[in-house]
Amino acid sequence: MIKHFLTTEDWSQTQLDVLLADANLLKQNPIQSHLSHKSMALLFFNPSMRTRTSFELGIQQLGGTAIILEPGQGAWGIEFEPHSIMDGDAEEHIKEVAGVLSSYVDMIAIRAFPAFKDWQIDRLDHKIKALAAHATVPVINMETIVHPCQELALMMTIKQHFKVVKRKKFLLTWTYHPKPLNTAVANSALLISSKFGMDVTLLCPNENYLLDEKYLTAAKAQCDEHGADFTVSHDIESAYAEADFVYAKSWGALPFYGNPSNEFEQRKYFKHFRVDGQKMALTNQAKFSHCLPLRRNIKATDEVMDAPYCVALEEAENRLHVQKAMMLNLMGHQLKQS
Ligand code: CP
Repeated sequence: MIKHFLTTEDWSQTQLDVLLADANLLKQNPIQSHLSHKSMALLFFNPSMRTRTSFELGIQQLGGTAIILEPGQGAWGIEFEPHSIMDGDAEEHIKEVAGVLSSYVDMIAIRAFPAFKDWQIDRLDHKIKALAAHATVPVINMETIVHPCQELALMMTIKQHFKVVKRKKFLLTWTYHPKPLNTAVANSALLISSKFGMDVTLLCPNENYLLDEKYLTAAKAQCDEHGADFTVSHDIESAYAEADFVYAKSWGALPFYGNPSNEFEQRKYFKHFRVDGQKMALTNQAKFSHCLPLRRNIKATDEVMDAPYCVALEEAENRLHVQKAMMLNLMGHQLKQS
């Protein structure tokens, strides 16, 4: 069976800890030759700065080569629906794309955000599942409805600051943004913090901003396994109180999915969820992070972003190390721990 990296739900905490240990070694010794003559295709359906740079550079630092493809812009548009009568814009089907790329490269990575029309369809994550079903090489998720690479970078960052992660209070706070964004990073933040046994609090303005039940249930179950707390709160002060790590993300309200103007009528009242120094002062001298990109003074203030407790740049750097560890793992390599 082919080993993919589609979601951390398919990987145990022990397996992820191996990746994180290798990532630490790669941080100290970035240049390796394990992937000499190996190659990967990076399929980008959406823009990226960190993901594209860190993957392209990462495989190069391991001796391999990356090929960037942007379907619909320089590469043919791709149809994902099975049995589709392809009379639209797409020139080829994922079955052929997966087959052809598998015959050229050793790994395929994909960034395919949801279509933002119907959450009941988007929540099935069918594009990456179709690619994985038809590829004969490992497939890596570079963000769909989850962002598992970001999860690894976040946990590497948390571990850099806390000797013991279990039962530390992790606050995932919704924050304001002018547009209704993808829930992927928020879903992922719940998955990884709960997998490592943190006390997880999800803070959002009201029930409309709750994440999909699948991720709430998974996070609660993982917290329960560790004897940790899982809390949903709409109260800013009590949620921030005694937090050890504050993670901010904006996302669209799922009941208004596909209807951005109606959704905006909800969100415009919640600009005060922006992370600022007053809120951070309520915490247990917490670290703050965000996956980036971040609109300053909209999602978090300059005071927060420029504070010594802001570790967002460390998290961004860690994307490089964890993805290299994961690529090595998928290609059958594990670095020697001393
Ligand atoms: N955090 C993240 O995935 O950044 P990019 O969208 O720039 O890749």
